[in-house]
Amino acid sequence: MTTHLLLGQTLGFDADPFHVPLDQAVRHSSRGGVLVQDGEVVKVGEADALRAAHPKAEVTDYGNCLISAGFVDAHMHYPQTAIIASWGKRLIDWLNLYTFPEETRFADEAYASAIASRCLDLNLTNGTTTVASYCTIHPASVDAIFTAAEARGMRIVAGKTCMNRNTAPKDLRDTAQSAYDYSKRLLEDWHGRGRARYAITPRFSPTSTIPQLEALGALWAEHPSCLMQTHLSEQVDEIAWVKGLYPQARDYLDTYEAYGLLGERGVYGHAIHLEAREKARLKEVGAGLAHCPTSNTFIGSGLFDMAGLKAGGHRVGLATDTGGGSSFSMLRTMAAAYEVGQLNGAALHPAQLWWLATEGAAQVLHLGGLVGNLRPGAEADLVVIDLKSTPAISQRAARAGDLWDAVFPTIMMGDDRAIRAVWVGGKPWAGPAN
Ligand code: GUN
Ligand code: ZN
Repeated sequence: MTTHLLLGQTLGFDADPFHVPLDQAVRHSSRGGVLVQDGEVVKVGEADALRAAHPKAEVTDYGNCLISAGFVDAHMHYPQTAIIASWGKRLIDWLNLYTFPEETRFADEAYASAIASRCLDLNLTNGTTTVASYCTIHPASVDAIFTAAEARGMRIVAGKTCMNRNTAPKDLRDTAQSAYDYSKRLLEDWHGRGRARYAITPRFSPTSTIPQLEALGALWAEHPSCLMQTHLSEQVDEIAWVKGLYPQARDYLDTYEAYGLLGERGVYGHAIHLEAREKARLKEVGAGLAHCPTSNTFIGSGLFDMAGLKAGGHRVGLATDTGGGSSFSMLRTMAAAYEVGQLNGAALHPAQLWWLATEGAAQVLHLGGLVGNLRPGAEADLVVIDLKSTPAISQRAARAGDLWDAVFPTIMMGDDRAIRAVWVGGKPWAGPAN
């Protein structure tokens, strides 16, 4: 087994930069090295010392590029790959006009496989090495994404999207029983197989009946090591709809809580318009929140309260929400998170943005320690970033006074051109197959 030594600037985190001063939270070396063996990061240190200690290692010198853990996208929809950037609608109309018709196409297994491959290649092209993806109601759509991830050696979270009412077209509905049965079969097939993890996935409470939510809550109780992912309080009109559908519920979160769908391994997408009780309960159980800033601006949903929720001790990670989100790039997603923060009166530090797109998202998915950080023992999913990838970025970075001043232009203006290399499970990714 080849031992690889990657040289460049290295960046990792010892602590959460929202809670700990930067000089203690951030681990950076301007001439560092990452030793990779058997798919794992074995050592992170200074380049010269690692070179001297491991003279037989195969060296790849990335010069001044930044070596980080690969990005982690805590919430996305691979079946929406082909309809990203669809114009002019807010959430409910956007679902009905663009999303649901596209998702019906996943009854065709060949189409599901083609889009799964396309999506994961787009993720890797953008330096994203782990995603948590929704699928469609079709069990084969779940097999398709897990199979495509396995072929690429990627760590992945995914699950069958369950929905049995309020969808047009009508053939995009399962039932309470079939949602339970297929989800059970799929999690038994995939959860813990290689690098795969299963997320039980009720789409959101408007498209599930109470018996379906109860069935999926029961399934989660039977398989508590699985994640559970859903949407929460994304748009004001949606919340009003939920109130009408669940008149007995105290709030939106209660439509999950009442049926066994609130827990530490729950990942709640958007979570923008939260009431005080919802925030308190999410905090109390240690649930994960996926902030999807390009989606929240694109679909017109609202401004996530990052500063308030992080100060409140919530578990938060960053996510694209493609294709409601308008980019596959976690750099672009960090930029949008920064802009949303500014509109909310809180300028997020670039270290905080980077943490949210790596360790923060990994923690939301309960993959902390495995992916999302550059440290010994972690799986060697890495991204190598060119901090001068375009003329505009390069001329700005030339003025930089310190690390974060050099990184911030790439966060704000960078895209896939900034991704110099990607390593997956200790191997360099060769690029899309065709
Ligand atoms: N709420 C329910 N389904 C979806 C979806 O596919 N995308 C977004 N952004 N919100 C949702
Ligand atoms: Zn979503």
